Amino acid sequence: MDQFIIEGGVPLRGTVRISGSKNAALPIMAATLLAPGVYRIHNVPRLRDVRTMAHLLRIIGAKVEFEDHTLQIDTSRADFPEAPYELVKTMRASIYVLGPLLARMKRARVSLPGGCAWGPRPVDLHLRGMEKLGAHLELDRGYIVARTDGLKGATIYLDVSSVGATGNIMMAATLARGTTIIENAAEEPEIVDLGHFLQRMGARIQGLGSKTIRIEGVEALHPTDYTIIPDRIEAGTFLVAGLITGGQVTLTHCQPDHLQEVLAKLQEAGAQLRIDRDTISLTASDRIRPTHVTTAVYPGYPTDMQAQWIALMALAEGSSVITDTIYPDRFTHVPELQRLGADIILKNNSAFVRGVKKLKGAPVMSTDLRASASLVLAALAAEGQTEVLRVYHIDRGYERIEEKLQQLGARIQRIDDGKLY
Ligand code: UD1
Repeated sequence: MDQFIIEGGVPLRGTVRISGSKNAALPIMAATLLAPGVYRIHNVPRLRDVRTMAHLLRIIGAKVEFEDHTLQIDTSRADFPEAPYELVKTMRASIYVLGPLLARMKRARVSLPGGCAWGPRPVDLHLRGMEKLGAHLELDRGYIVARTDGLKGATIYLDVSSVGATGNIMMAATLARGTTIIENAAEEPEIVDLGHFLQRMGARIQGLGSKTIRIEGVEALHPTDYTIIPDRIEAGTFLVAGLITGGQVTLTHCQPDHLQEVLAKLQEAGAQLRIDRDTISLTASDRIRPTHVTTAVYPGYPTDMQAQWIALMALAEGSSVITDTIYPDRFTHVPELQRLGADIILKNNSAFVRGVKKLKGAPVMSTDLRASASLVLAALAAEGQTEVLRVYHIDRGYERIEEKLQQLGARIQRIDDGKLY
């Protein structure tokens, strides 16, 4: 299993190119099941989760080729509507094939994802949404077995503004008879991107980026080419890397509009920012100011940037409180950050962080994707050497993170069974 060896204490300097968004690419890949034919999707990040979704599409019968950052997906012969447990348990976003399979093939057999390192993470809203659209669902040996004679538009109120449920229902509704209205829909940029992709396929969707999305079902959709939006969480992570190391970093190919709350918090914490159309430059000041953060649905502060913020606040001059309202149990990084010397007390869904003067390197373990990112950030700022074990978690969502960090001057190396890369 790969690990990172990081020698901390180097202020990061330089320019880094932000990759395409993982959380937009995954549902868009699933959406190619809605109409047979050949799609070319550009700016796709080269990540483990993208490879997992490609694998799933191949099981369903699609041909998928990945060249540089362009995916070519041919769904002409996709006709096996199944998502096996072996894949779904490694990537929950596999559930995104449920809506497209039901809409196009009228049946689907998709494994329930099961537990997650940071809490129960139910998919009940996805399932209820499909039922509202006229699907019949049963549970068989851990699989959702879904059938329909033809989906019909419905008004669906989401109790929680779920990103995944909004995407899944939106995809299914594109081919349903009549009008679907999703109330309390997710406004996240990745859902807007999925919506734009579906519109390019011929779907009739209004209200993207608002709480009410209206979909008029159409008879058929058609393949299209598309370019994925930049990854706002990768961008946010690299900005924190600049600030936590006292450096100066410039991001290119990013979308500052999608990062407004994170940028505001970075400024509160002492960063100087210069923002252009698709670049952001950050210059750190000589100290990190304590800054409270509460996660919320978009445009609030993202839960996917919560762990990174705790790492930053671990070195702030003073105390801060970081609260996660989206995933109250998403704190597996805290005991690992404590191994590096962070002073954090967890109470319910809040981390009370008292900034320390320095962190000290130690072996730590990745537990999930963003938790791993927070450990890498802390290690970059820590004195001495940190070994971050099980970095396969980070490879799920960050493209070549060690190479991008090396480009900024970081001393980070990947080793595999004791062998340096
Ligand atoms: C997506 C992102 C993930 C991010 C999360 C919140 C992808 C592939 N993943 O995950 O990185 O952290 O949004 O921004 O895009 N909920 C239910 N029932 C459901 C579905 C969700 O109760 O059926 C709850 C969840 O437990 C959670 C909240 O809704 O408390 C938000 O989850 P959701 O927006 O669905 O997250 P994901 O789409 O799984």
